[in-house]
Amino acid sequence: MTAKTTYETLKLDISDGIAVITLNRPEKRNAMSPAMHVEMADLLEDLRYDNTARVLVLTGAGTSFCSGMDLKQFFMELKEDTDAYNRIFRIATEWRLRTLRYYPKPTICMINGYCFGGAFSIVEGADLAFAADEATFGLSEINFKMFPGGSVSKSMANLFRPRDALFYGMTGRNFGGQAAAEMGFINMSFPLADLEAETMAIAKELAAKDPIALKAAKEAYRFSLEMTSDAAIAFASAKEAEVQLLQNDAWRKEGIGDFMAGKYRPGLGGHEGDGESSD
Ligand code: ACO
Repeated sequence: MTAKTTYETLKLDISDGIAVITLNRPEKRNAMSPAMHVEMADLLEDLRYDNTARVLVLTGAGTSFCSGMDLKQFFMELKEDTDAYNRIFRIATEWRLRTLRYYPKPTICMINGYCFGGAFSIVEGADLAFAADEATFGLSEINFKMFPGGSVSKSMANLFRPRDALFYGMTGRNFGGQAAAEMGFINMSFPLADLEAETMAIAKELAAKDPIALKAAKEAYRFSLEMTSDAAIAFASAKEAEVQLLQNDAWRKEGIGDFMAGKYRPGLGGHEGDGESSD
């Protein structure tokens, strides 16, 4: 099946196996409105079964990646409607904290500008994250007399060093892309002018890998965090059998087989071969 392409708050572009999802409310700095949460949940479900999308890249239109929750539409306008508030809260938490984390395809955040509060959970939920040096990150909740609530404190606990989590959570100070990379919150930062090319090159690299092995790589890592060592090893063995079955043993036949035949060197590049590792 293919995902629908028209959204009110999002933009979807798929090409060469890479689906770029753009948060598309630049006039509101891509604040996550209730409609955006609902659309994102739907889109992620559609892309899950869309074989033209092998890798997802999430970014923002204009000068902002995402300015966090839409403070007006979520906290003010839903204040009196507990059911509507709870429904959106659940959808908003689900897609960032669970759907992205366990998504069957690689997910990448490309942080092009402002990244505040609830947007930290998008970044943390994705597998990889790259930002512009010029990006501005901030846990701004404390600046409006709140604390990093919802999924955000847990996202910080998952990825931040403890001192950084408390420092930025309690001061609300901003930091840039290079600091975010140095803390380990993102993988790397690049000058804004290079961000898209650098991110898309990595997305392209992932799109060329075996999707079954990629899914297993994510699952073996993500689920092992919640398991004992014995359970994790048993799970990895079961996953290995699953990969073998789903690929019809391609990892042995083509992967190791072609190495044994001297066709490429897995230590220097992928089986898909970009010339670098092939003889
Ligand atoms: N929620 C709702 N509306 C927002 C949000 C937001 N998170 N962020 C920006 N907007 C709106 C503004 O209200 C403004 O709307 P208007 O044109 O109708 O008046 C428009 O977007 C542009 O905002 P400006 O402040 O004029 O843009 P500027 O580029 O100068 O500043 C910035 C951008 C720094 C993002 C600023 O808007 C801001 O501080 N926003 C709030 C950031 C924040 O604290 N987010 C919440 C995090 S906590 C959480 O997610 C639970």
